[in-house]
Amino acid sequence: MADLSGGCARSDALGILLETDPPAKAQAVQALHARVRDGAARWNPPRVIDEPTGLPGRPARPELVEPRKLGRRSMQSEQGRAVLLHALAHIEFNAINLALDAVWRFAGMPAAFYDDWLKVAAEEAHHFSLLSARLAGFGHAYGDFPAHDGLWDMCERTRGDVLARMALVPRTLEARGLDASPPIRARLQQAGDHASAAILDVILRDEIGHVLIGNRWFRYLCEHAQLEPHETYLRLADEYRAPRLRGPFNFDARRAAGFDEAELAALAGLDPSTAQPDRGV
Ligand SMILES: [Fe+2]
Ligand SMILES: [Fe+2]
Repeated sequence: MADLSGGCARSDALGILLETDPPAKAQAVQALHARVRDGAARWNPPRVIDEPTGLPGRPARPELVEPRKLGRRSMQSEQGRAVLLHALAHIEFNAINLALDAVWRFAGMPAAFYDDWLKVAAEEAHHFSLLSARLAGFGHAYGDFPAHDGLWDMCERTRGDVLARMALVPRTLEARGLDASPPIRARLQQAGDHASAAILDVILRDEIGHVLIGNRWFRYLCEHAQLEPHETYLRLADEYRAPRLRGPFNFDARRAAGFDEAELAALAGLDPSTAQPDRGV
């Protein structure tokens, strides 16, 4: 792994982002998280770090393809569930990279910002490890199936603006995961795959925390720049061509993740199937 540290845990995070081997990356994230927590590694918030080539570090496989080339999977067959678990592992692998990128890239934030995003990276590494272990139970490993090529895209588009990053990665992409999780979990449970369904429970619980962190820093940045959060979100979603939000929404999880009642009511307006914003999904 590249040693870029210079005594700064943000540079360590960049070194881990460059790591191409997924299990090594997951393990290194958790080790750095423990070192920062124990005071053995420290943040240097003002340091501006130059972007190296080769971001993000990722393995030669999976083959990355356009989303429309990925087939739909039946939950009834083992193969179908392995393909689903692989797709989820790919999302988690990308989520490790997205969280590490927030740590190294954006200088001048409070130390708590870096603590939060390193904690997110460590939890994404845990999710990736859980899914990899479950995939192994089906005789497969991460890399065995093709995967979505677009997950790093929003990270690149928002590389120059921490406010846009907070608006569009945790508050948009990760928040969509809150909506997507319960139906996937239900399909796994229905197929009798309780072990995989239990992993989805862990992921949903932690992801509420990630979106909450995104909301906290989005509001913090809005406050500092004296921007109105609702209008600012709509402006950024438009400017950066964020994916359009579509229901059904997981209102309970979104409320727990810090979206306010005005935001939930606006979502309810997009989703005719949920007239009552507090009904949940
Ligand atoms: Fe995750
Ligand atoms: Fe996450």
